[in-house]
Amino acid sequence: MKVLITGGAGFIGSHVAEELVALNYNVVIIDNLATSSTNYLPNGIRFYQMDIQDPSVESIFKNEKPDIVIHLAAQTSVINSMKDPYFDFQSNTAATVKILDYSSNVGVKQFLFASTAAVYGDSKKLPLQESDVLDPQSFYAVSKYAAEKYIQTYAKLHNFTSTILRFANVYGPRQNNSGEAGVVDIFVSTILSENDCVIYGGNQTRDFIYVKDVAVACRKAVEKNKSGIFNVSSNIELAIGDLNDTMMKKMLSRGKTVYKPYRTGELLRSVLSNEKTKKELGWLPLYTISKGLDETIAHSIQIKSKNIAVKN
Ligand SMILES: NC(=O)c1ccc[n+]([C@@H]2O[C@H](COP(=O)([O-])OP(=O)(O)OC[C@H]3O[C@@H](n4cnc5c(N)ncnc54)[C@H](O)[C@@H]3O)[C@@H](O)[C@H]2O)c1
Repeated sequence: MKVLITGGAGFIGSHVAEELVALNYNVVIIDNLATSSTNYLPNGIRFYQMDIQDPSVESIFKNEKPDIVIHLAAQTSVINSMKDPYFDFQSNTAATVKILDYSSNVGVKQFLFASTAAVYGDSKKLPLQESDVLDPQSFYAVSKYAAEKYIQTYAKLHNFTSTILRFANVYGPRQNNSGEAGVVDIFVSTILSENDCVIYGGNQTRDFIYVKDVAVACRKAVEKNKSGIFNVSSNIELAIGDLNDTMMKKMLSRGKTVYKPYRTGELLRSVLSNEKTKKELGWLPLYTISKGLDETIAHSIQIKSKNIAVKN
């Protein structure tokens, strides 16, 4: 099976690529390295450094003829989407339509898409279910929601499997804090640099899912080849203040946490049911938050020591 991953050099994409290469999938990656590097590309893949909006991406599809497309490349910052909705629309909706066109033209069998918990908006009924009414509150959420609809419509017209995975807050090694939910990475780097952590609010809750569990969810989705929308989440609500306490203790921090007022527009609670995904994709998150944080912290410490060694 040949799998083409857009955004495969990134935080989640590099873990997905690793998971698939380990199982002997033939993996091709397209990434413009806007928020990533080639550092985590696994051996044994074919890599094209290119923007997915570049018209020559079409010839990559024609030459490679992938069986499956995993579309992860995106503008991932909610804040940037509010500053520049047109760029967000081009990267996340218009470019997805192009990728769908190329995919349909070469007869792709399955199209897997990284959507987001943000499409649900501020619902009071928790945990969020895939069938809930959506109420996107940011342009990023709108562009992902629109992409979902394009994917479903293309899939019906061209008869391929469309698998939409709505990720909760993904964390783990290789994350950079430019993206959608880099709070774990922000805390790790702040604590490692011995600065004080600043938290706006603190009681707001999020659903944190470890990146290796997300990579397995993508692999299971490929194996099951099932159309539908699936939450990829821990189904556990964790307050940001409690996350910070746990990390400060784990990292033996001597710094302080400074609490500031909530920022306007911030979601107060978020947790996603993963029952459907467990049942229909046969997936189960295996990492507790404690185990996931230990691996994330160990990775950041390793990178920091490498950087210090290079400087010296
Ligand atoms: N991290 C999360 O918590 C989270 C939650 C929900 C959804 N998602 C989605 O998962 C996907 C992966 O996110 P991530 O956290 O790994 O972010 P990331 O920034 O690490 O990965 C995105 C990758 O896409 C590449 N890219 C961006 N625009 C591109 C373009 N126009 N052409 C080619 N490559 C491009 C980047 O260089 C990067 O390697 C995104 O679609 C994101 O919206 C992430």
